[in-house]
Amino acid sequence: MVGLQWGDEAKGKLVDLLADHHDVVVRYQGGANAGHTIVANGVTYKLSLVPTGVIRPEVTCVVGNGVVIDPEALWREIDTLSRQNIALDGRLWISDRAHLILPWHLEEERLTEGTAAATALEAIGTTRRGIGPCYRDKAGRAFALRMADLVDDPQRFRALLARIVPHKNRLLQTFLDDFTPFDAEEIAHRYLQHAERLRPFLTDTVEWLHQARQQGRRLLFEGAQGAMLDVDHGSYPYVTGSNAACGLASGSGVPAQTVRRWIGVVKAYSTRVGGGPFPTELTNELGQRIREVGREYGTVTGRPRRCGWFDAVMVRRAARIVGVNELAVMLLDVLSGLPSVNVAVAYEDDSGRRLTAPPANPDRLAACRPIYQTLPGWTEDLTGVRSWSDLPQAARDYVEFLAEAIEVPVTFVSVGPDRLQTIYKDDKDQTR
Ligand code: IMP
Repeated sequence: MVGLQWGDEAKGKLVDLLADHHDVVVRYQGGANAGHTIVANGVTYKLSLVPTGVIRPEVTCVVGNGVVIDPEALWREIDTLSRQNIALDGRLWISDRAHLILPWHLEEERLTEGTAAATALEAIGTTRRGIGPCYRDKAGRAFALRMADLVDDPQRFRALLARIVPHKNRLLQTFLDDFTPFDAEEIAHRYLQHAERLRPFLTDTVEWLHQARQQGRRLLFEGAQGAMLDVDHGSYPYVTGSNAACGLASGSGVPAQTVRRWIGVVKAYSTRVGGGPFPTELTNELGQRIREVGREYGTVTGRPRRCGWFDAVMVRRAARIVGVNELAVMLLDVLSGLPSVNVAVAYEDDSGRRLTAPPANPDRLAACRPIYQTLPGWTEDLTGVRSWSDLPQAARDYVEFLAEAIEVPVTFVSVGPDRLQTIYKDDKDQTR
C-alpha cells in the first residue's frame, strides 16, 4: 500500500482494514515523521514508527532496514502501547540494520530549516524529526550508526560516538550561534539505556521475512508518506529523505516481484504539508472548506494542510513509478455539496506549452497552471453509503474519471473514518 500524493492519504484506515487478511504488517521507509491515529473500541492509539497492524493481536509487525529510528521515540511508543494493554513481545521485530537518528540530526535540521545558513532551497517545512540528516549520513557512511551498533557492544558504541561527536560539534558550532556542544559520553549513556529495552525486539528482519514467506504467511507492506515525497521521484527538493514511492525492496529485503497486489492510495482531492510547489492548491474559501470538512491538520505536527483539487498529472506519474494495479480513493465524502469538482488533467507551463508530466525544475513546476476537467458535483451525504450502486451517479462518475485519468482501476472507496464506511467496488471483493 503506497500513497500516491504527498502523504496523509488515510493509509492507516486501509492498513487496519487489510490487516484482517494478513499475518504480518511491514514498514520499510521513513521514520517518526509518519503519524497515524487509530480509534478502535473507543480507545485512541497514536502510532508513528510501529506499524498500524499492531493493534490487532494476531498480527506481527516488522520495522524494516529502510526505516530510520530515534530509539527514544520508539521506546516511548512501545511504552505507551504497553500501557494501553498492547503486548508487543514476540510480535514486533525491528531490523538490526535500521539507521539511528542521533541528537545532531535534529540540530542539523534546525540549521537547514532555519535561517542561519544559506541553502539551495527555501525551507522544506519538514517534520523536524531528523529524518533528512539521518538519511544523508546513511548515504555518506562516515558518521552513520545502525541499531546493531547500538545493541551489540556498548564499548564499541561509545568509541564510535567519541569519534563522530567532535566532527558534528565543529560543524554545528560554525553555523549555529546558540549551539551547545554534544557530549559523547552523555549521549552514549542515554542511548545505551534504550538499547537494553529495545534489544528483545531486534532481529535480522530480512531472514525473518523470508522465513515468514516460506511458511505462507501473508505480508502487508505499509508505505509511509507518499510517492510525491519520494527523494528520487517526488517534487524534489521538497520531499522527504526516503524512497516513499519505491523503497519496498530496498527497505525490507523482500523482492518487489514477489508482491502480488500494489494498492495506490489517493484522497479524492490533494493535500500537502510543508513547502514546495502545489499546482492545484486552493488558497481560497474552498480550500478552507475542504480543510475543515476533511479535518486536514497534520498528525505529527498539527500544521494545517494545504488543500487543492485532485492532480491526475502527479498521480498518474506516481502510479506508473510504483506500478500500482489497484486504487483506493479515500475521503470521497469530503467533496459532497460542491456544485462542481475539478481534476487537473494536464499543466500549462509559463510559455503556454501543455505538459502531461511534472517538470523537474521546482520553479517551473510552481509556475505551471493546471488544465482542469470540470465534472458535476453531488449534494448527497455519502457517509452512510455502503455499496457502489448506492453512490450518487455524479460521485460514481467522478471516481471512474479518476481511474481513467490514472489508468488504474479503483477497488476501494472510503466515505468516512470508520472501517464500515468502505465501499468495495466489486461486491465480491472481501479483499482477497
Ligand atoms: P521530513 O520527512 O520531516 O524530512 O519532511 C519533508 C517533507 O515531507 C515535509 O514537507 C513534510 O511535511 C513532509 N512529510 C513528512 N512526513 C510526512 C507524512 O507522514 N505525511 C505528510 N507529509 C509528510
